[in-house]
Amino acid sequence: MAKVQDYREFLKKVLITEEELQARIAELGEEISRDYEGQDLLLICILRGGVVFMTDLMKHITVPHAIDFMAISSYGAGARQSTGRVRLTMDLQTSITGKNVLLVEDIIDSGYTISEVLKLLEMRRPKSLKVCTLLDKAGRREVEVPIHYRGFVIPNEFVFGYGLDMDEYYRNLQFIAVPDLEKYRPPEEDESPEEPLSPPTEAE
Ligand code: PRP
Repeated sequence: MAKVQDYREFLKKVLITEEELQARIAELGEEISRDYEGQDLLLICILRGGVVFMTDLMKHITVPHAIDFMAISSYGAGARQSTGRVRLTMDLQTSITGKNVLLVEDIIDSGYTISEVLKLLEMRRPKSLKVCTLLDKAGRREVEVPIHYRGFVIPNEFVFGYGLDMDEYYRNLQFIAVPDLEKYRPPEEDESPEEPLSPPTEAE
């Protein structure tokens, strides 16, 4: 087991509380439900950060909707910043042709991820394609992207919690927080070898 620091040891401040998040997500759900009244919808979550937001958001969407997931990665370390190119590592399970699609993201930062995903999905000819993001780090934008539903505009600070990770942990926290990076220690992986699998026992 990795040794993972308690977040309270490096928490600088809570930026958005659980109550604020849940109230805004309910509003977004109502707005989406109004806009798509009489239609149905496919919510697409880009793994992994958006998963917590999407599962809460969908509870407030009253029009019939299905969900699907996709995963992407940037081309090589740091490549996203310089080139903005992303690679699809897990595709959707459903066809989006002729459907109302709503992309659900936890955060839009430079905008490269959503911009590339939009280009990719447009080629599949959905009936409509919109973007819903919980957080908009607007000051960091490098490429213009349409945002139809936005939870909160946040300052240019590193944030974690509620789907957003630090070295893959802390996504489960109910709030969005800012870390004190001087106090943060990355998880220490346990160096002890894995337990060997016991050999299969022969049937008597
Ligand atoms: C985050 C977030 C967006 C992307 C936004 O994902 O979920 O997909 O970064 O950044 P951009 O606007 O600069 O492209 P991340 O790569 O951290 O992966 P994760 O969702 O698995 O945590």
